[in-house]
Formats: sequence, C-alpha cells, structure tokens
Amino acid sequence: MVYRGPYRVRVEEKDMPRIEHPNDAIVRVEKAAICGSDLHLYHGMMPDTRVGTTFGHEFVGVVEQVGGSVRNLEPGDRVMVPFNIYCGSCYFCARGLYSNCHNVNPNATAVGGIYGYSHTCGGYDGGQAEYVRVPFADVGPAKIPETLSDEDALMCTDALATGYFGAQLGDIREGDVVAVFGAGPVGLFAAKSAWLMGAGRVIVIDHLDYRLEKARTFAHAETVNMAECADVVVEMKRTTGYLGADVAIDAVGAEADGNFLQHVTATKLKLQGGSPVALNWAIDSVRKGGTISVMGAYGPMFSAVKFGDAMNKGLTLNMNQCPVKRQWPRLFSHIANGYLKPSEIITHRVPLEHIAEAYHLFSGKLDHCIKPVIVFPQAA
Ligand SMILES: NC(=O)c1ccc[n+]([C@@H]2O[C@H](COP(=O)([O-])OP(=O)(O)OC[C@H]3O[C@@H](n4cnc5c(N)ncnc54)[C@H](O)[C@@H]3O)[C@@H](O)[C@H]2O)c1
Ligand SMILES: [Zn+2]
Ligand SMILES: [Zn+2]
Repeated sequence: MVYRGPYRVRVEEKDMPRIEHPNDAIVRVEKAAICGSDLHLYHGMMPDTRVGTTFGHEFVGVVEQVGGSVRNLEPGDRVMVPFNIYCGSCYFCARGLYSNCHNVNPNATAVGGIYGYSHTCGGYDGGQAEYVRVPFADVGPAKIPETLSDEDALMCTDALATGYFGAQLGDIREGDVVAVFGAGPVGLFAAKSAWLMGAGRVIVIDHLDYRLEKARTFAHAETVNMAECADVVVEMKRTTGYLGADVAIDAVGAEADGNFLQHVTATKLKLQGGSPVALNWAIDSVRKGGTISVMGAYGPMFSAVKFGDAMNKGLTLNMNQCPVKRQWPRLFSHIANGYLKPSEIITHRVPLEHIAEAYHLFSGKLDHCIKPVIVFPQAA
C-alpha cells in the first residue's frame, strides 16, 4: 500500500525491506488492519506524511528473517507486533512509557516511533504490505499465544489495547457512570472494557446508528445519538441526575464532527490542529472532580479546548498513545476466559489489491464498516 496524497492510496511494487540493523527482523504479513489513526494520514491531516510511504501499524505475520543479534525470535515464528516501535531500555521505556521511547524518533520530543505513521513518528514503513521491517525485534513483537486466533491477536496490536488502556486511564471506580465519545473500534473496546473495571453504567455517544447498534449489542452500552439531541452535554447531564458522568473517554480525536465553527477554524483557517469538540463535550459532560481519558489522537496545536472549565471543575485528564505491550498479559487472559472477543468488531476482510476500496469505505463510514482487515494471498 502506498500513499499518493490526500484520499489517494494504491498498491505498488516496492523494494523488499532489508535487515538494516542486527536487531531487526523482517516479517511476512498475513493480516493487517486499518486504524482510525490511518484515516488522519489518509485525510492529509498529519504533517510530513510523505508520498510513497506505506501505512499500517496493526499487523500479524510470520518471521521471515532475523538480524544477527536477535535472540527471542527465529524464522517461522508467528508474531503479533504492537503499533509502537521502542527500544525497551531508555529512561521512558524503563518506566513502561513505550509509546514515548526516546531512541526511535529523531523528529519529536513527544511521541516515539509508530509503524507507517509519517515522518513525525519516525518515518518507518508500515505493515499494510507483504513484508515489513520490524526494528528492536526482541522488544516489541511476541509469538501469538495458542489461545488467540490471528484476528484476535491482530486486534491486540492496537484497537483493543487502546480501548482497554482508555478505560484504565479513566480510573473507573465501582458503580461509576462512564461516557464514551466515539463508537469506532477504540470506543467500542473502551466501552466493553469499562465493565471489566467496575463501571455501573456505560453510555456511548456517536452519530452513526449502525455503530451505536454495535455499542448496544457488543459492548452492552446505553447509547446517545448526538445528531438526534439538540445538545449532547445537556442530554448527558439529564441522564446523570444533573451531576454529570464520573468518567469520560474521548475515542474520537481531532477529526470530530459536531461543531461547524471549530471545523472551519481548523480545516479552512488552520488556526488549530483539528476540532476539539469531542474533548470539549467530554469536559462538559463529566461531574466536578471527574476524570477524562483521551485516546483520540490530537496534533500539537489546539486553541479552543475548554481548559479553564477543566481546571475550575477540578478534573483529572489522563492521556497518551497506548503502550500496547503493557496491556497484553491482561488482554490475553480476558480473551482466553471469554470476557473479550475482539474479532467480533471486524466487518470487512479485503485482499491487499483492494485496499484503496477499504480506505474509502472506512473513511466514509460506508457499508456499515467498523473495522476493515487486509488479508494476504499467502494466508488465504
Ligand atoms: N491513543 C492511542 O494510542 C490511539 C490508538 C488508536 C487510535 N487512536 C485514535 O482514537 C480515535 C478513534 O479511533 P477509531 O479507530 O475508533 O476511529 P473511527 O474513525 O472508526 O471512530 C471515530 C468515531 O467517532 C465518531 N465521532 C465523530 N465526531 C464525534 C463526536 N463529536 N462525538 C462522538 N463521536 C464522534 C465517528 O462517527 C466515529 O464513529 C482516532 O482519533 C484514532 O487516531 C488513538
Ligand atoms: Zn492505531
Ligand atoms: Zn526506549
């Protein structure tokens, strides 16, 4: 898969990735997914997304080749690879902040490395390809446990791990009312995970009926269609006895719908990096002293965030790119004991040659698309 410019991707023949460092592995990809984060690239919203790069940070496959110093993997191993590229030994990795690794991205002081996520995240080619170079191969990837199907493992490389992390960062206490903004894969998994952490009510907000339906059946959540209520915040207040929710999880990010003015200031006037409307709704919808967990992706510049309201309400804001591998032990046991069936959210399985169509469907929220997976001929 190759990026050609906003809203344009296509399949091209590229050079085979090579071992560039003794810690590298080359993985033959069997399944890859498209993430909501890839849509920010696809829409041309991420700076320094260079024509010719390959996206894809959710993938599973088979180790084809390893560099001289790789000890934990060998050719033939079936592996799942977290979306983060990280060294495993710097100040930040030592503290479990894998998504903030200091050694993998010369370009930024905030985020670390991410496969296929523009030169602002290190400029690595991603896994929506037959082969991908995996740096620090002893650190990120893991052999797929026998208790996991390939598709369940694929969901653990980002979407499920991030949804679960979103619920964790909500600091949910027994009986809490948890509001989840966004019913994409991340929001659906956050809603489902909130129950595992003791939530008493889970309410999912979106404007796409088919996704809200999934929130009810898959995540057993109450739902609010933001297009059908005059004011989302008033509706959230009304349904919580005019206190507000205890916890809100933003699973939308910078491309939120719902406020035309903020859309214009971001996309036309370039006064900010996107629309903070979902984050602002989260800030307004929680009670005083509540907690907000931000999983939605935001670029650096935002001018219209209701930060004063957050301060004066005494809110706690938790956020980060997910340090994926940290979540795996818990996720593996939840999957093994049947509490989580992540592959249930996959709606489309598309061969690599039709990946442009998959981007089009997922971006336009067409054909009831929730999570598209790219399948490769070898795996069929
Ligand atoms: N923090 C991380 O590590 C991490 C990892 C993965 C994804 N993300 C981010 O999480 C976000 C969600 O990812 P996804 O794969 O679920 O994407 P998605 O595009 O499938 O889902 C986003 C959903 O939000 C809904 N939405 C739009 N505006 C809204 C609003 N104002 N209020 C409520 N809902 C609204 C959309 O209709 C859509 O259903 C993206 O911003 C993505 O970049 C972050
Ligand atoms: Zn992602
Ligand atoms: Zn590191």
